[in-house]
Amino acid sequence: MKPVVVLSGAGLSAESGLGTFRDVDGLWTQYDLSEVATPEGFARDPALVLEFYNARRANMAAAAPNAAHRALAQLSAEPDVTLVTQNVDDLLERAGATGVIHMHGELSRALCHACGARWDAPDVMAADDACAACGAQATRPDVVWFGEIPYRMERIEALLSEAALFVSIGTSGTVYPAAGFVHLAREAGARTLELNLEASGSTFDESRIGPATELVPAWVAEMRSE
Ligand code: OAD
Repeated sequence: MKPVVVLSGAGLSAESGLGTFRDVDGLWTQYDLSEVATPEGFARDPALVLEFYNARRANMAAAAPNAAHRALAQLSAEPDVTLVTQNVDDLLERAGATGVIHMHGELSRALCHACGARWDAPDVMAADDACAACGAQATRPDVVWFGEIPYRMERIEALLSEAALFVSIGTSGTVYPAAGFVHLAREAGARTLELNLEASGSTFDESRIGPATELVPAWVAEMRSE
């Protein structure tokens, strides 16, 4: 298989019951992004932010991977396929995927913003939790907030520069740097394909419109028969 980079977003987990951000009833229609997803919001009210992510961690635990996660997990076993996700849930891993790059971090991990230590997050995080390594009461979910730099960007850009195919699944393409990956991939000569419930507005060589649980397994079957 030629090098493939798959970028996924909230639409991948929508049919598992996890809400997207910008659709009708999306998380950002119910919560103020600047309060719960920025370092400034966390500094103002850590308990509120932790409560928001505790609720999302509980939803994640109650959700199950869907057919799209399972198909991508199968594909991830191919040596030249890399899964990059903006999702902070663990549904790809629970479907068996390996090597997933979580560019916006993971709900299942905690981070100490005093010393940088990381560990498995408890189900419920509290503002007075102490860091396991340095003891500071400075723990936060290991997720990337607006104004912070997403994880593993150098690696992702290197992968995009070598990709023959870039596939975007269930993302609105509104949040940079992920929204720019299609352009980087195209500049590098990759074919670009979008699988989404509605066209995102970015320019792809091909857009397939429909639910991820139908489109992704069909596309993965195509890839594996090539
Ligand atoms: P959005 O909520 O912005 O977009 C979700 C996309 O999924 C939309 O394009 C929908 O059309 C599509 N969609 C919904 N249901 C679908 C389904 N069943 N099958 C296929 N597609 C479906 O979510 P993201 O693009 O992931 O960042 O948002 C990107 C980032 O913005 C998130 O990682 C998060 C958010 O703010 C941070 O919190 C830093």
